[in-house]
Amino acid sequence: MKIVIVGSGAMGCLFAAGLVKTKEEIWILDKNAQSARALNQNGILVEGSTTTKIPIKASANIQEIGLVDLAIICVKSFHTKQAIIQLKPAITKNSKILTLQNGIGNIEVIAELLGEDKVIGGSTSEAAIWLDTGKIRHTGKGETVIGMIDGKTPVEMRSIREILNKAGFSTKMSRDIKGLLWSKLIINVGINALSALTGLPSGKLIEIEASKKILRESVTEAVRIVKRKRIKLIYDDPLAKVEAVCEATAENFSSMLQDVLRKKHTEIDYINGVIVRLGQELSIPVPVNTLLVNLIKSKEASYAENNQ
Ligand code: PAF
Repeated sequence: MKIVIVGSGAMGCLFAAGLVKTKEEIWILDKNAQSARALNQNGILVEGSTTTKIPIKASANIQEIGLVDLAIICVKSFHTKQAIIQLKPAITKNSKILTLQNGIGNIEVIAELLGEDKVIGGSTSEAAIWLDTGKIRHTGKGETVIGMIDGKTPVEMRSIREILNKAGFSTKMSRDIKGLLWSKLIINVGINALSALTGLPSGKLIEIEASKKILRESVTEAVRIVKRKRIKLIYDDPLAKVEAVCEATAENFSSMLQDVLRKKHTEIDYINGVIVRLGQELSIPVPVNTLLVNLIKSKEASYAENNQ
């Protein structure tokens, strides 16, 4: 199977490095030619319990990669449309597109551009920190769950699950993609903005009483939306689940914390922003999520101010 990982951030590099260990042909599609060159020359360095250097093929030119069987989308949610347009020439009638991105809205964008039958939604609790081009630290292992929009589990999806398992990512299938993506959203709602604003790694968020209180309130608000929309989460106790992820990835800097540290645009609109929009639509008060969104947007605006 020819697999292209779209995006060379922490998750893109982590999944590419794991998949290279299988017998499949693995590529990274990068939007930046310079970073694709660096990946080709230096490979991927993964710091974990041991540090390993993994050779990888990368390109910013989809023609060089050619037709693919599977594309794994690991770009930020606000880059999905642009990434799918870049990827499109490599997609055949049999290709599948798996998104492992955070947030709500990605499967819809991919389905609109490539067709609903091609999309596999996914959620992962693997945690990694981007250190430099092609250099990451694997900060926490977690489960990956994948599912199709129509709830079916075709043979192609079962093969993808097998390949991910062989690559070292413990992977399960779900028939309820909406429940799956919302289950991940709740985790990101609790962790990401709060860690980005406080600078705290995930474990500390639940060790410090004051931040634990904010985490719990943001999650409780999101769960009210979930209940009103009759979405079934894949776990029974959302607060316990978010806290368990904090514990399992205690040393991790959430992706949003990594973004603000690098003065990058964040995925706030696709995470807590979703709760705020639905709160307005459904007349459910979500004051903590509203505050988190406004604080992150203020933080993003401060990058320009501080550069003057
Ligand atoms: O965005 C992230 O960093 C991750 O989705 C999570 C769950 C917060 C850490 O694994």
